[in-house]
Amino acid sequence: MSKENIKNRIEILRAKLHDHNYKYYVLALPEISDFEYDQLLKELIDLEESNPEFSDPNSPTQRVGNDITSEFTQVVHKYPMLSLSNSYSKEEIADFEIRIKKILPDESIEYVCELKYDGVAIGLSYSGGELKQAITRGDGVQGDDVTNNVKTIKSIPLKLKTENYPQEFEIRGEILFPHESFNKLNKERESNEEPLFANPRNAAAGTLKLQKSSIVAKRPLDCLLYFVLGEDLLFNSHYENLLQAQNWGFKVPEHIKLCKNINEIFEFIDYWDSERKNLPYDIDGVVIKVNSYKHQKDLGFTAKSPRWAIAYKFKAEQAKTKLLSIDYQVGRTGAITPVANLEPVQLAGTVVKRASLHNSDQIELLDIRVNDFVYVEKGGEIIPKIVGVDKDVRSPEITPVKYISNCPECKTELVRIEGEAKHYCPNETGCPPQIKGRIEHFIRRKAMNIGAAEATVDALVDNNLIHDSADLYSLSKDDILSLERFAEKSANNLIQSIEDSKKVPFHSVLFAIGIRYVGETVAKTIAFELKSIDNIRNASLEQLTEINEIGERIALSIIDYFKNEKNLAIIEKLRNAGVQLEIKEDQIQQADNKLNGQSFIISGTFEKNSRDELKELIEKYGGKNTSSISAKTNYLLAGENIGPSKLEKVKKLNIPIISEDDFIKMIED
Ligand code: IVH
Repeated sequence: MSKENIKNRIEILRAKLHDHNYKYYVLALPEISDFEYDQLLKELIDLEESNPEFSDPNSPTQRVGNDITSEFTQVVHKYPMLSLSNSYSKEEIADFEIRIKKILPDESIEYVCELKYDGVAIGLSYSGGELKQAITRGDGVQGDDVTNNVKTIKSIPLKLKTENYPQEFEIRGEILFPHESFNKLNKERESNEEPLFANPRNAAAGTLKLQKSSIVAKRPLDCLLYFVLGEDLLFNSHYENLLQAQNWGFKVPEHIKLCKNINEIFEFIDYWDSERKNLPYDIDGVVIKVNSYKHQKDLGFTAKSPRWAIAYKFKAEQAKTKLLSIDYQVGRTGAITPVANLEPVQLAGTVVKRASLHNSDQIELLDIRVNDFVYVEKGGEIIPKIVGVDKDVRSPEITPVKYISNCPECKTELVRIEGEAKHYCPNETGCPPQIKGRIEHFIRRKAMNIGAAEATVDALVDNNLIHDSADLYSLSKDDILSLERFAEKSANNLIQSIEDSKKVPFHSVLFAIGIRYVGETVAKTIAFELKSIDNIRNASLEQLTEINEIGERIALSIIDYFKNEKNLAIIEKLRNAGVQLEIKEDQIQQADNKLNGQSFIISGTFEKNSRDELKELIEKYGGKNTSSISAKTNYLLAGENIGPSKLEKVKKLNIPIISEDDFIKMIED
């Protein structure tokens, strides 16, 4: 075949495959058999392989992904990815409509009702009809570039079908893991003894962040698109543009309705509240959007979200099932958590077998008894919870739960600190799950950053090779090699990683030793204030509580920690091993000057700190706050809903835009 003919054949094959793909994955109306599809694909793969000059990043062959490990680069969204304000009652929806009528009294407003998909938000940008980039929501200002993984999602067009698309536009939607495939995936993982995904959303998010797109390609993700953005869209309303996007080849949700008044909106809500259980994927509510772009523009935005849209969230789904028994788990700090074993029941797309019972008060309050029929609900948390009991069907012989009085692991008598809901096992240094948990905490990335798996810690403790975290420093290579699954190389790596941890700065060590209530931030504050472990040990209650943000609860816990001889022994072992137990002078200097003279401009709203707190931090670390953008500005610290004109200006001046998390990293590194 001549080169010209090869090129033609490649183009024909690509067009055919794109089209069959669309018919199969978007329309669910396949025209050819899987076998025929595979034949065409194989022919194309062969031709592309032997004629690399005709390669194309958006060829259907690219959907199989590859084994290259990819890091996800952060990309700033062209249009910030806003969130919606939530509402939980029809009154709030009625208020929403009243507010709109007040602002636009003379207009007749059309609303578009859609389902609120519970997946992972994604922004797809197209240029010249081809997919260019796929970015996750991230913090709304910037997200991860996950283009290679997204290309493997078959319902996302890599090339658009018709020609009438704008040269540049973005389309947003939700990446979903359908229930059926989710259940299958978890079953597979269970038989491979891999950790299970808690729900389809986590599975979708986890899959999207996989580093090998070839593995992503094997997971049947789907994507529904619900929002078109761009400067030259074809129509002046949301609804029409969505229908248009459907013609371009996007999978636009079929369950979408134009409503003229509030009653029609309520009808849509009621219908889907009961029908959602029949959908192949999770939804958690309904989204109501004003249809006309002109009206949207007139309504504008609040600090956080558009005034022209609102989400109505459904109440969490419930299921009724039998409580078979209660297990008691011992956490790292010795806290006891009762866990219910349930007769397996289907709830919001997954099978629930266990539920958290929180603490003994909760059991008493709800009067939950073994063999009761209980209602389980999935809230935002990963583990479902029991929210009530059907007392009408309780058999008379069922008696109240007698809460355990001794630790299920080491049999020590449990204690309950006044004012706290949980029982604790006080045998900190002798109770196996507490020992393991504390060591696992000690090696965490944000603590000593020692690269060992949970199973390794368990094995080291079970084989009596270590009894506390400080024992890690006296492990020999032979000790490690004596464990299953360790070979020369992995043992060397672990030894090296332990050695490296001796350089971890003192504030991380203070966090690592696991004093109750001393989290990462508290550890840092105390470390910089008191400078060494010995000073902290000798500090009085008054000295400790004088430190900003340290209350009596934390102070008492610190004092308690140092009263325990076993803890003091650990500290001495750490000292002998050469672990950092004080702040180095140069570290103090560095901390104060980390942002040395750099000027920042803050814009938008932030999740973790207020703007004033951020300004304070900038100054604390030697940076400067400025109020207007100039060529001298070093960074824009951007939160949510930053004004488009500001964004444009910094882009023009090539000023780097950083998120709150980036900023925190800058001062922490
Ligand atoms: S529209 C400004 N439509 O909900 C409008 N969002 O809280 C922004 N979501 O991050 C989004 N279904 O992940 C829109 N039909 C739908 C949606 C939807 C789910 C998610 C989306 C967004 C979040 C907003």
